[in-house]
Amino acid sequence: MLPSISFAKPETPKKGCVVVLVDESLALGTVAFAIDAAVGGLLPRAFAAAKFKGKEAASLDLLAAGDFDRVIVVGIGKSADDADWLKIGGAAMAEIVKAKAAAADIVLDLADAEVTAEHAAGFAEGLKLRAYAFDRYKTKKNGDNGDDASVNAKLTIRHPKPQKARSAFRRREAVADGALLARDLVNEPGNVLGPVEFADRAKALEKLGVDVDILGEKELKKLGMRALLGVAQGSVRPPRVAVMRWNGGKAKSAPVCFVGKGVCFDSGGVSIKPGAGMEDMKGDMGGAAAVTGLMQALAARKAKVNAVGLIGLVENMPDGNAQRPGDIVTSMSGQTIEIINTDAEGRLVLCDVLWYAQDKFKPAAVIDLATLTGAIIIALGHHHAGLFSNNDDLSAKLAAAGEASGEKVWRLPIGKDYDKLIDSKFADMKNTGGRAAGSITAAQFLARFIRDDTPWAHLDVAGTAFESPKNEINQSWASGYGVRLLDRLVADNFET
Ligand code: BES
Ligand code: MN
Ligand code: ZN
Repeated sequence: MLPSISFAKPETPKKGCVVVLVDESLALGTVAFAIDAAVGGLLPRAFAAAKFKGKEAASLDLLAAGDFDRVIVVGIGKSADDADWLKIGGAAMAEIVKAKAAAADIVLDLADAEVTAEHAAGFAEGLKLRAYAFDRYKTKKNGDNGDDASVNAKLTIRHPKPQKARSAFRRREAVADGALLARDLVNEPGNVLGPVEFADRAKALEKLGVDVDILGEKELKKLGMRALLGVAQGSVRPPRVAVMRWNGGKAKSAPVCFVGKGVCFDSGGVSIKPGAGMEDMKGDMGGAAAVTGLMQALAARKAKVNAVGLIGLVENMPDGNAQRPGDIVTSMSGQTIEIINTDAEGRLVLCDVLWYAQDKFKPAAVIDLATLTGAIIIALGHHHAGLFSNNDDLSAKLAAAGEASGEKVWRLPIGKDYDKLIDSKFADMKNTGGRAAGSITAAQFLARFIRDDTPWAHLDVAGTAFESPKNEINQSWASGYGVRLLDRLVADNFET
């Protein structure tokens, strides 16, 4: 359950749980001033006693002050315009969760600065992102089991322009909901979410006006996607490719294609992974989850763009029928691939879907997302996704969208010298390039399936899709990384 969020005019609450904001001047806004008067001037004393300085996302929780159950004060830092409002909303939500409050009045009002409708909408988005918890499989949801049980508090945001704030939030809520869908998909265990079940979730976007086609085994064979099929053949669960089309742009304008790796579980196949941590590989569909969440967000906010989301859904398992190291497969592009390691499966799935995307849609740009390599975690840790691209302009736009959304990317090189490392003795290429520059050789592999005239970017999200450190706006294992980044990219560059 998530909190309900409504907007209303400022009014001084008399009791219950209230949240107020201060900047580093610690000056109280009109409502906070009235609350302080009602509790006998407790706030400035509490600031001093707790050495509370109003720093961004810092908070102070006053219990049983006057008639209030709680007065929660959240810092916004130096200035409202420079503040990270998502983070501040997240910090407020953290206190509300901790308080187990059934309802809270949140007053967005400062002494010397305006909290704009956009700020308020960002704040509300932060509340929502923070409130998410994946507790579907916890039979005790009372929060007493050490889990951050999700909250269904009734939250009232008080702002001078509630209508404006509400309408700004509507757009942001569409995006937040997309990120939460991505988190749900990544958190879901492999037994529940296989390729068929994931495809069903994609199909459900039809109710938002997205056209969704699901390609089954027969169609994939007919298309010649033998690289993707080779990965899937070791699993009893059949593969799917979901194609989600949102046509919000001009009728004839070329779409942007988003391609996602959807390995619902990656055991490594015959080149099986070690046992420790293998459970994390239920999240090896994080790229596909982000693409699905993005398509939901674009449709829900009726983005003026033509966008196509394509996800390759398979399970990578060892089995009597599984693909072997040494096998050679022919991809949809006609290029042949020698399988060196069955655990380098993501690129085999992506290469066919990338080819299909370009063949079918003649896109203005292609961006793929994939939990592709462990090496990217070694290179960049959990704070930037790896960016690989054949296009400086698209790279710059992605970097800017990363800064704006907080979902950051860092570009790494590709080029001829790295490309050579995947030449094969027996086929056109092999699916691994050795230990050195593992994330780059994976990107080089994908690059061999990109046409010269297609602006393309590959995001390696192995370090950011899951298991990133908890922060103000996410406490869950899955982050939903990519949805907010790509929504920003689309909004700033591809909408008419
Ligand atoms: N899904 C993994 C990459 C991964 C590892 C994602 C850890 C998230 C966390 C991918 O399919 C894989 O196994 N890659 C191999 C490639 C190697 C065999 C060339 C890797 O990174 O070790
Ligand atoms: Mn693998
Ligand atoms: Zn994988």
